[in-house]
Amino acid sequence: MEDVEIEVSAPGEIEPDALALPLTEEDSTPRSNDAQLGSRLRRLADDGELRGELGKTVVLHTDGGSSARRVVVAGVGKRADMDADAIRTAASAVVRRLRDVGGTLAWLLDDSLPLSFDEQARAVVEGAVLGGYSPARWKTEEQPSKPIGKIVLVAAEQNGVAETATRAARVGKWVNWARDLANSPPNELTPADLATRTAELGAERLQVTALEPSQIDELGMGALSAVGRASANGPRLIVLRYEPAEAKSDLVVGLVGKAITFDAGGISLKPALKMYDMKGDMAGGAAVIAATAAIAELELQVRILTVVAAAENLVSGTSFRPGDILQAANGKTIEITNTDAEGRLVLADAMWYARREGATHLLDVATLTGAMEVALGDLYAGLFANDDSWRDEILAAAQASGDHPWPFPLHRRYRRYVDSAYADLKNSSELRQGSPVLAAEFLREFAGEGPWAHIDMAGPGFLERSRGDYYTQRGGTGYGVRLIVELAQRLGA
Ligand code: BES
Ligand code: MN
Ligand code: ZN
Repeated sequence: MEDVEIEVSAPGEIEPDALALPLTEEDSTPRSNDAQLGSRLRRLADDGELRGELGKTVVLHTDGGSSARRVVVAGVGKRADMDADAIRTAASAVVRRLRDVGGTLAWLLDDSLPLSFDEQARAVVEGAVLGGYSPARWKTEEQPSKPIGKIVLVAAEQNGVAETATRAARVGKWVNWARDLANSPPNELTPADLATRTAELGAERLQVTALEPSQIDELGMGALSAVGRASANGPRLIVLRYEPAEAKSDLVVGLVGKAITFDAGGISLKPALKMYDMKGDMAGGAAVIAATAAIAELELQVRILTVVAAAENLVSGTSFRPGDILQAANGKTIEITNTDAEGRLVLADAMWYARREGATHLLDVATLTGAMEVALGDLYAGLFANDDSWRDEILAAAQASGDHPWPFPLHRRYRRYVDSAYADLKNSSELRQGSPVLAAEFLREFAGEGPWAHIDMAGPGFLERSRGDYYTQRGGTGYGVRLIVELAQRLGA
């Protein structure tokens, strides 16, 4: 996989295929110290053709009047609303506008904007890389668009910008890798396929293994085993270990991902409408795998132990049933009241394994409950934790990353919702109340000793339609990859 090339340059020193100039709604023309360009831009502004509306682009051929062949005026919206997402959205719009041009895109960093050059550069690169993604890989006659091969950040003051931008390009590539997996059809991405794709990432400091169904059974993972039992494509427990040359602390971050390669709901079958989108129910697993690969590539100085529970939740003569009582690897017994609440089951065993292998801090990432999407839509994920300082570290990293989570409560008094008459607990409540919280309460019982956090990304993990920002395509978003890499960056600093 190729990274987009990054360069930082002083104004006027480059000859890009296009130079993007950000424009706010309050300004009439973008900043440019190019006199010839300046008068053309002013004429456009006078004619009312330049407005800084977020996501609006105006392309202008320079006909030799500038070292750039084209100038793209990129609307970044109102100054008061300006944040990194606005820049990402503008960069995405520019890249999509330049689909037939490709090549080298230069972007003028603007010191009048309320974001540092570092923040602008990072957002430009992320917006360009994520905005240029297409899910149409399976079309046989897709008109190929010309990719942006190089991004040049134009700034007089260049401290640290190249490093930040290069890192953003790397991470963006892994976000798109996770999107490819989420968009992969379930006939092409079974649990075994996911294990194979992950094994390809193995490197000197990144060890990848996968447990087969028989090993999953031998270890007593009755929950993961039951969920995967109906499918001819048996479950896998995929494990990645990243050991940096030098770690900054004794922490072992356990990243746990839900990877249901297709969730039909099992015997508690889902309705037909939109069931096809349940190929994306492995997006959490893809995110932790991609993030681990990115962390290894960036050689961040923190130990990572990633455990992904991969299974296919189908209906067959070997399905687990409502009424079954399972025993998870930690010994707890679970009454199954709904086979469609399978994510918490596979995560239960994966978290146990992560603790057994030495994880000190857990973070699980999952498309866990439809109600999370009902509550927060496609932008925010819900964040739950048994430890305030671990939760705050994750929140702080998230805020810088572009992946948005919002804290939700856990409380012992929710436990009664999953009390079972027969077993230690049941896997779902028949009441239509607090489903994301109950799922998190359930998980807490399997999180073992030590800090644990849970991200329910059912909303932002897989989109039904454009989000109107830099995610303009339906399907996987790679939610969680940027968040986790930023967290690891901080823990390894
Ligand atoms: N994978 C689904 C959750 C989901 C739904 C993710 C829609 C993304 C979009 C999960 O396995 C599930 O089916 N959850 C059930 C739980 C319920 C039975 C307690 C749900 O949310 O309906
Ligand atoms: Mn389900
Ligand atoms: Zn599911």
